[in-house]
Amino acid sequence: HAPLRVALVGLGTVGGGVIRLLQTNADLIARRAGCPIQIVAISARDRNKDRGVDLSPYEWVDDMTTLATRADIDVVVELIGGADGPALTLARQCLSVGKPFVTANKAMLAHHGLDLAGLAEKAGVALKYEAAVAGGIPVIKGMREGAAANEIARVYGILNGTCNYILTTMEKEGRGFDEVLKEAQELGYAEADPSFDIDGVDAAHKLTILASLAFGTELDFDAVATTGIRHVIAADIAEAAALGYRIRLVGMAENGPDGLFQRVHPMLVPLDHPLAHVDGSLNAVVAEGNFVGRLFFQGRGAGDGPTASAVVADLIDVARDEYGDALAMPVAALAQQKPADAGKR
Ligand code: HSE
Repeated sequence: HAPLRVALVGLGTVGGGVIRLLQTNADLIARRAGCPIQIVAISARDRNKDRGVDLSPYEWVDDMTTLATRADIDVVVELIGGADGPALTLARQCLSVGKPFVTANKAMLAHHGLDLAGLAEKAGVALKYEAAVAGGIPVIKGMREGAAANEIARVYGILNGTCNYILTTMEKEGRGFDEVLKEAQELGYAEADPSFDIDGVDAAHKLTILASLAFGTELDFDAVATTGIRHVIAADIAEAAALGYRIRLVGMAENGPDGLFQRVHPMLVPLDHPLAHVDGSLNAVVAEGNFVGRLFFQGRGAGDGPTASAVVADLIDVARDEYGDALAMPVAALAQQKPADAGKR
């Protein structure tokens, strides 16, 4: 099939990861998507910044508001971030005119998701956001598809890689908060404004999205009671350990008789609970369904590689929507390669 032509807006850590992933895995992505996925246009705030990736193959677009109506672009990927501002303008423009839109922007979705989903539905166009929650973990697809038939009682987890990195590194290495935060920033985990991470706001954005998916309720960010990890000190961690617990920043949503309960705060997690063993920048999500039982998703929740993995998975979905499902079963691929041969490779 003809390539899926992508405009990539926002060239930070994740944008660079998307470019690298599309280059490195181009062939297998084309097989699975049913067509090559090609970035044709790029845009970001600062054209001249050195990003460590070769941008010369792509058309630079100064005015991103032109992208929505360009007939030679099939899908727009937004990696600018920020709840309002240019990201929201671009999302509204694209969805209003029926341009498929892929975003990693949890803040925008937590605040304006309902509005954007309405536009997408009206235009009959894809709005995809796997990368917005828990980085590389396919939790949106897991909830929307895998667990779709279940009534969900509760969804909770570790939704911020920076905080988990800070808490687990303080615990294991006995180092101070500020020093470890700086390291998390250097590793590309932290938000542009790291207070979003350490005050629990980023986790609350993600929880808002998860809760809405799990319970079919409207996104309600303002209803999330949020406390971050700024005040956690080494002595708290030691005290918790002495009692048989670890401290994790947990987001939890439950749909009870009194309505939706959503909160993010540091919790004492007993050592026999899987969340106590989620270390470093890993994220984890637990969902309890009435037929499937307890689902436990774990993986890398921040950083360029994992987040790019989720963005590109959405692009593959868009291509499949366009051309039919190239990998309903890998029939064509297997016909050329018997399982026995595959085993020898
Ligand atoms: N700052 C976020 C985190 C990045 O640390 O989890 C992924 O959303």
